[in-house]
Amino acid sequence: MSVRASVVRSLSALLAGVRRPRLPLPPHGASSAGGGTKEAPAVLDAYVRTAPSPQTAVDIFAGEWASRLPPPLDSVNAGIAPLYDDGRLLWGLQELGGVAGQSVLELGPLEAGHTYMLDRAGAASILAVEASTRAFLKCLITKELVGLPSARFLCGDFVAFLDQQAETFDLCVASGVLYHMTDPAGLLERISRVAPRVYLWTHYYDADAFRDSVRTAHRVVEPESRDLSGFGYRVYRHEYGRALDSAGFCGGSAAHAYWMERDGILGALRHVGYSRIETAWEQRDHANGPAISIVATRA
Ligand SMILES: C[S@@+](CC[C@H](N)C(=O)[O-])C[C@H]1O[C@@H](n2cnc3c(N)ncnc32)[C@H](O)[C@@H]1O
Repeated sequence: MSVRASVVRSLSALLAGVRRPRLPLPPHGASSAGGGTKEAPAVLDAYVRTAPSPQTAVDIFAGEWASRLPPPLDSVNAGIAPLYDDGRLLWGLQELGGVAGQSVLELGPLEAGHTYMLDRAGAASILAVEASTRAFLKCLITKELVGLPSARFLCGDFVAFLDQQAETFDLCVASGVLYHMTDPAGLLERISRVAPRVYLWTHYYDADAFRDSVRTAHRVVEPESRDLSGFGYRVYRHEYGRALDSAGFCGGSAAHAYWMERDGILGALRHVGYSRIETAWEQRDHANGPAISIVATRA
């Protein structure tokens, strides 16, 4: 086969894969000629035919929202979690003496609930890195609905981001992300390179607590030993399983993660240079596994 013929063949194969399915014509545009109903171009399905509203924007991801929007938008049908008024982060910010005028790096903003809290607490700048394209777009919707003048969202993996990051921040907010990592201690080490202060909320592994709960008893597994530049700790493999079937899935980018133990997390934080560590919001009986809020700062 000539080079040209081979290129044409490859292109045809490529284009065959991107041909759009034809959808039935919606009622507003239905037309029939000669008795047959014509199909509307599928691209028109993406158009809204009502006046703009917050609900219309939220409904782009209908059924996928975790958070309830803050007042005056709390009557919009989104999620139910009060992540725009989260007592755990409020505690962290109080412990840190506030964030007014500071630069914040936020890892995994999901729907920008905490971004909203940081903005309203007076942060000078918030750079929020989100890997899920759907969550990233939900953050942009939130930004447009509530207004987040100090925030900027980046779509990408925060581990890869941290590996190429030269800039430093006054604070890193890493809430709900450590237990979604395949290398959790590696994340703590990376955070320590860019921020002298970190707020974390995370689940952790505790075999006894797991055994005590019907929801987690099946997740009691053997530990694996790891090393972080001389600091030894244990991790426990966690499979996402059926959670991966949900469009609202908000875990990590692999099909599994590794959970650390409480002491392992605190020890790793000390090992990477955080000398002052405060904890609160201990929930050993949390339905999804024991959880804790942590503020760690360098002296
Ligand atoms: C459980 S949610 C936590 C959301 C929010 N920070 C909170 O505490 O409520 C985890 C978020 O981190 C994002 N995420 C997980 N792994 C990531 C990665 N490697 N890079 C960027 N975002 C990630 C997920 O898509 C999701 O939005």
